[in-house]
Amino acid sequence: MNRFLLFFLVFTTASAVLHGLLAWRLHARGIPRARLIAVVGTCLLPLGRASRLLDLPDGFAVIEGAALLELAAVVVVAPLLVLLDFGTDRAVPAAQPGRRAALQKVSLGVATATGVIPPLWGIRARRDLDVVELPVRLPRLPKALDGYTIVQVSDVHVGEFLDEKDLARILERIRAHRADLVVMTGDLVHDRARHIPPAVAWLARLSALARHGAVAIPGNHEHYVGRDLVLSAISATGVRVLINQHTRIAEADGGGFVVGGVEDAFHGSDPAQAFREAPPDRARILLAHQPQIVRATAGVGVDLQLSGHTHGGQIRPLGPVAVGVLYPWVSGRYQVGPTTLYVNRGLGTSGPPSRVAVPPEVTKVVLVAG
Ligand SMILES: [Fe+2]
Repeated sequence: MNRFLLFFLVFTTASAVLHGLLAWRLHARGIPRARLIAVVGTCLLPLGRASRLLDLPDGFAVIEGAALLELAAVVVVAPLLVLLDFGTDRAVPAAQPGRRAALQKVSLGVATATGVIPPLWGIRARRDLDVVELPVRLPRLPKALDGYTIVQVSDVHVGEFLDEKDLARILERIRAHRADLVVMTGDLVHDRARHIPPAVAWLARLSALARHGAVAIPGNHEHYVGRDLVLSAISATGVRVLINQHTRIAEADGGGFVVGGVEDAFHGSDPAQAFREAPPDRARILLAHQPQIVRATAGVGVDLQLSGHTHGGQIRPLGPVAVGVLYPWVSGRYQVGPTTLYVNRGLGTSGPPSRVAVPPEVTKVVLVAG
């Protein structure tokens, strides 16, 4: 079965179960049309998905956005209502139906506020850009490059929920940080070919801000859009695309350092191939969209790996917990053997167009020699 179809079926089934739980608890409160609410809620997601499959104009994405936000709320509201009702039934004797009903009203208010307010607040908060400074010591870095600045952008997901206005605003924030090199670690475009031109033009403008330009690698979403379409458009601007390859940066400054880039982990990443024939006495920085590639870098001599993909879990508190089940490296800095791994939280969104206490990020990596 097609991987996307399977994922969609699992997702829709989980949504139906959660909406079923919600209907059950609303019905217990005597709320009319509780089942209808649940059916409409469950159908919203397939409707939104259909609008995307039919490639309807960007404005229709509001259906899918609303469906995913509603689901993010129901994921919290439905189990919380079940728990609160269980607690109420244990605490209040059945002989006091009035008191039970009053407590059920309170628990409905608490559960609704807990589930609904954060994802709605996160619609606006998804634009609260955070620039994170990351000093990293590289023993093989020439003294001449001490303080060299790499700006990492990742998971931009240019599309219906991150447009040219957002891109311009992000670019202005980056301009102030005077990058020597820009690296883009995958998922530049969300999933539609019509968003490739503005995304690539933005990356080219970023590249022009840095004295050594920009380097890019594919993420999994490049494959959903059409990997060759995106990568050839990027290459045409002069931005270097690395697919299991490396390039030497700032060679004139004491020999410089090496940047390697790998293909997305779902599509054949090979760190050893990326650094084949790279000079062994130079510092090595690896760009890998998915952080777990760090497991495949033993013996490759990677000093620093820059990754993304996880979005930091995107919506707290459940998002980082769920992502952590799949990836032990959710966001931030980790030391994995000899390699410093940094996982950027990304700029855009995937799933609900919302970020809750996981702000979008640009990473300013400052290299320290010796
Ligand atoms: Fe992503």
